[in-house]
This record gives sequence, structure tokens and C-alpha cells, in this order.
Amino acid sequence: MNFNEEYSKRKEFVENYLFNDFKNKNYPYRTIVDAMEYSVVCGGKRIRPVLMLACYNLFKDNSEEILPFCAAMEYIHTYSLIHDDLPCMDNDDLRRGMPTSHIKFGEAIATLAGDALLNFAFEKALTCKLSNTLEALKCLAEASGKDGMIGGQVIDIENENKKIDIDLLKTLQALKTGALLSASCEIGAILGNANDYERELLKNFGLKLGLAFQIKDDILDVESSPEILGKPIGSDERNEKSTFVSLYGIEKCRELVTELTYEAASNLEIFGEKAEFLKELAMYLLSRDR
Ligand code: IPE
Ligand code: IPE
Ligand code: MG
Ligand code: MG
Ligand code: MG
Repeated sequence: MNFNEEYSKRKEFVENYLFNDFKNKNYPYRTIVDAMEYSVVCGGKRIRPVLMLACYNLFKDNSEEILPFCAAMEYIHTYSLIHDDLPCMDNDDLRRGMPTSHIKFGEAIATLAGDALLNFAFEKALTCKLSNTLEALKCLAEASGKDGMIGGQVIDIENENKKIDIDLLKTLQALKTGALLSASCEIGAILGNANDYERELLKNFGLKLGLAFQIKDDILDVESSPEILGKPIGSDERNEKSTFVSLYGIEKCRELVTELTYEAASNLEIFGEKAEFLKELAMYLLSRDR
């Protein structure tokens, strides 16, 4: 298998679907459609929808059917980024290689673009015709809300310039980033009609991968460059964030990312060769530079 080709194929498949959603601008409120489109199309690795699709493909081949949920997940993730960059949050001015939404459209429209993407996500997901759509919606709603991504963002904000204890930091990471990555895998399993055991394995795969992913993000925030990363570096230090890097230093974090990635991949054993792409995806995230 040529991993890069397979990844690009899946990424394009999702993007062709996403980009169609913002074609109609014939509204008096077209600014909001412009702002939503701006943040969605301007790039991104599309890790969450690609993971969802790959987990679904362990069980089913009709990839078209799950696209509404792939889009919903990417819209929720994109909304979380728009809000994360706002002056009242991380106050960053570069995202996916472009000026952030509030720099381009102003804070009011950026806030509304995030809100609109969140609502649009559920509007999209509701068009899915697969059985178990309701169960998948429940998973999506929980992972995005107070017991998921938002809860994590709250702990993140409340612990700026504090010495955080390790258990709270783990909870922060598991919610802030783990929840959406884990739900991406779990939703693939739910819609693929996986049994409870398979679903649990894929959920755990996503959770461990999410922890590795955020630690890697924190490392890149220190040692990458805005040109490669498409977002500013040094944001965490400027905001005095509590991260694994601030607690343990870069070297220990590199070890942790490797450890967590292999732990994540161990959940894929029972799927055999069918999980080859997912395993390679985990390894790609370990070595990524953006
Ligand atoms: C960035 O996510 C925010 C985190 C949860 C670390 P990604 O690294 O997936 O961002 P994009 O989608 O590729 O821009
Ligand atoms: C934010 O984590 C994760 C979200 C829920 C958006 P970061 O604040 O580290 O994400 P980046 O580095 O700005 O992408
Ligand atoms: Mg943040
Ligand atoms: Mg940020
Ligand atoms: Mg970061």
C-alpha cells in the first residue's frame, strides 16, 4: 500500500463533498456563508473525517453513505478552531496558513461562523441514511459538548499560568482533543454496525491517538515554524498554557508520543490487514511536521 496516495485519495473524497456545501451564496446573509467557507476550505489535514471513513471501511465499503458524518465532524472541528483562535481564547492570527477568521471578518462574524458551523454539522449529519444514525448523533453531540471538547477547552483556559497536576492535564487532553478524535473512530464503528467489542477498541484507538496528537501539537508549537505549521508557534508559551511540554520538556514528550501511538495501534490487531491504512495513519501522525 502506498500510504500517501491512499491518504490523499480519502482526503480528496471528503473535500469534494465539503466544498460543495458552500456554493450557494444567494442570501442577504451571505457573509456568514463566506466566513464558514473560508475556514473550511483553506486547508487542514482532515484527520478526523479520514479516520472516521477508515474505521467505517473496516466494516463497509459504501463510503458515500458516511460522508454527511465526515463533514459534520470536520465542521465541528473547524468551528472549535475558529473559537480557539479568538482574542478571548488563544488570540492567534494565523490558521491553516491564512489569517484567522476574526482577523479576516471581525470578531462578531467569526464567532457567528463558529456557531453556524456547529449547527450546520448537525443539519448535515441528520441527512445520513444509515441505520444507527441516532446513536452516532449522540456520540457526536457528547464529544463536542461540555463532557467533551468544550469541557477540555474550559480546563485549558482555567489553567493558564497555573501549575496543573498531571491527572487534570490528562483529563484536559482527553477532552480537548481526545474526544473528537475518539468520536471520529467510534462513529465509523457505530455506522459500520460494529459489535460492542470492536466499537470499544476503535474508541480506545482514537482516544490514545488523540493524546499522542495533542502532545505532538504542543511539541510543534515549540519547534516548528509558522510557514510549515500554518499557525503561529510559541502560542502556548505566550498564553502560559499548561501542556505536557511545559510539565515534562520536549524529550520526554517525544517518548510519550511514540509510546501512546504504539499503544493506540495495539487496538487494531484484531482487524488484521484491513487496518493497515489506520496503522500507517497513526505512524504518519507520530512523524508529522504540521
Ligand atoms: C489542531 O487540529 C487542533 C488540535 C486539536 C490540536 P489539527 O492539527 O487537526 O488541525 P487541522 O485540521 O489540520 O488544521
Ligand atoms: C485546541 O488546542 C484544541 C481545540 C479544541 C481547538 P490548541 O489551542 O493547542 O490548538 P491549536 O494549536 O491552536 O491548533
Ligand atoms: Mg487552545
Ligand atoms: Mg490554540
Ligand atoms: Mg496547539
